[in-house]
Amino acid sequence: MEIRWCTSRSTFDALAADQVAALLARKPAAAIAFPTGLTPVGLYAELTGRVADGSLSLDQCRLFDLDEYVGLSADDPQSYAQTIRRQFAEPAHVPPKHLRLIRGDHTDADAECREYERAIAVAGGLDLAILGLGANGHIAFNEPGTAWDSATHVATLSAATRAANAMQFAPGAQVPEHGITMGIATIRAAREILLLVAGDSKQHALSALRSGTPSLQWPVTALASHPNLMVIADATLSSLE
Ligand code: GLP
Repeated sequence: MEIRWCTSRSTFDALAADQVAALLARKPAAAIAFPTGLTPVGLYAELTGRVADGSLSLDQCRLFDLDEYVGLSADDPQSYAQTIRRQFAEPAHVPPKHLRLIRGDHTDADAECREYERAIAVAGGLDLAILGLGANGHIAFNEPGTAWDSATHVATLSAATRAANAMQFAPGAQVPEHGITMGIATIRAAREILLLVAGDSKQHALSALRSGTPSLQWPVTALASHPNLMVIADATLSSLE
């Protein structure tokens, strides 16, 4: 595990974008899983800026998302599918035919999970999984207690995760109780992992990862043994052991 501490938001975003750009320089048609949430918003702006100035092209990149709320369609403004299209895929000109986003409104969620795994396999597996981190250690929607051999599955969201994500919903709107998420095994199978950690609430989860002690209660610790893990973290979190 390599940890890169960043003292400013701009270096955080630029360093993350550099990892994506380096992969695409080696492999323009790389399959990459992108997260949603607040943490990657600056990365998306940085990548979009590089596309706009001609220094980066995502026109061959195959884009997957990590997770989705069960019941939300890709047209729902609160779905992760729409968020990732609006914040990133469209402004960065990722061709729609290269997007495979989880269909939260699929009539058979378990079938969608199987089809999603198949789509990743058809793409040759993930070259890179970019992850945010939940305060309780979740990665994608893999909550504490999730089996590390899990493939894409329907997850019950914890009260803590639903509360943390409520701000992304309209006032009074209910945060869905379930999500479809890439499993821990799906994520660990990616050839590279880039974990983005920003925000004081992530201190304990980052500390659990850095301790190197595997714990089902801290899903992020499943990444510690990955041979190609880079963590980009806000330097203010570096003092916590
Ligand atoms: C959500 C998402 C995760 C994301 C996490 C952190 O629960 N399902 O994929 O990584 O929140 O989000 P944020 O970056 O907003 O802190």
